[in-house]
Amino acid sequence: MSKLTQLLCLADLNKDQLNGLLELALEIKRQPAKYQHALAGKSIALLFEKPSLRTRVSFDVGINKLGGHSVYLDQQNGALGVRETVEDFGSNLACWTDAIVARVYQQKTLEQLAASSKIPVINALSDLYHPCQALADLLTLKEHYADLTQVHLAFVGDGNNVCNSLLLGAAILGMRMTVVTPQGFAPNVMVQQQALAFAEVSGAKLVFSSDLAAIADADAVYTDTWLSMGSKNEPAAIEPLFRPYQINSDLMQRFALKHFMHCLPAHRGLEVTSEVLDSAQSLVLQQAENRMHAQNAVLVNIFS
Ligand code: CP
Ligand code: NVA
Repeated sequence: MSKLTQLLCLADLNKDQLNGLLELALEIKRQPAKYQHALAGKSIALLFEKPSLRTRVSFDVGINKLGGHSVYLDQQNGALGVRETVEDFGSNLACWTDAIVARVYQQKTLEQLAASSKIPVINALSDLYHPCQALADLLTLKEHYADLTQVHLAFVGDGNNVCNSLLLGAAILGMRMTVVTPQGFAPNVMVQQQALAFAEVSGAKLVFSSDLAAIADADAVYTDTWLSMGSKNEPAAIEPLFRPYQINSDLMQRFALKHFMHCLPAHRGLEVTSEVLDSAQSLVLQQAENRMHAQNAVLVNIFS
């Protein structure tokens, strides 16, 4: 597998690189001791403009397990672009650290950090993408369905950052993916077009709809919050539009879905019921655990 220089978006990867990262993640998960010095002497900045549980902890602990060192920076250290410019932040971090993992409001901020620091930047969530989440989710699916090209994944809810990254991953790998959103909440048009272009090469089958019936035959259904961090939508205004798309036991049974997926945090009783979230069909904790293995595969690839 060829080396990555950064991970701003899954579209940065070709099919071999994406499959290679998933294989490497499985190997690191099976044999962690083999990789315990992979990041020896490396320091990685973890820069967060928004709250996080899974991403922060999985990177921090994951880097430690690879023998590296992480430095967590929240906005108490001077908000990006407020105390100093994003570019000055990037060029200074590069004086001491070997890579930057950043969770930002705007994808553009990641590009500015990458250009100014000239060290690898990894997207830990932006308005547009959540590539580390999608890598962990594809890894989770791979553990249940060995051949991802035979998997039909349905995403129901807001066509958000998580949806965009899953869409690109599914399109690159040649999977089947159906995205069902309320009208007006479909994934970003540029991302849809990019995914459709990847699908032409890989043979992926992508469907976009507002009709829940489109998820018939899906193996797994994925949902996420109806209101992402940084969204200006009013909860009371969007709730009635999204309510018919709630993932509940009725829906799981009606479409004979085998698995439920969610990046978390979940809003119990809104996008998913506790009955489904806590059921044996729910893969959410496996997804959360796999965040670390997937991210560690990215880091090992970059620094090997
Ligand atoms: N799934 C995810 O990215 O969780 P956090 O927001 O807690 O990092
Ligand atoms: N779509 C959500 C994902 C959180 C992990 C958000 O951006 O808030």
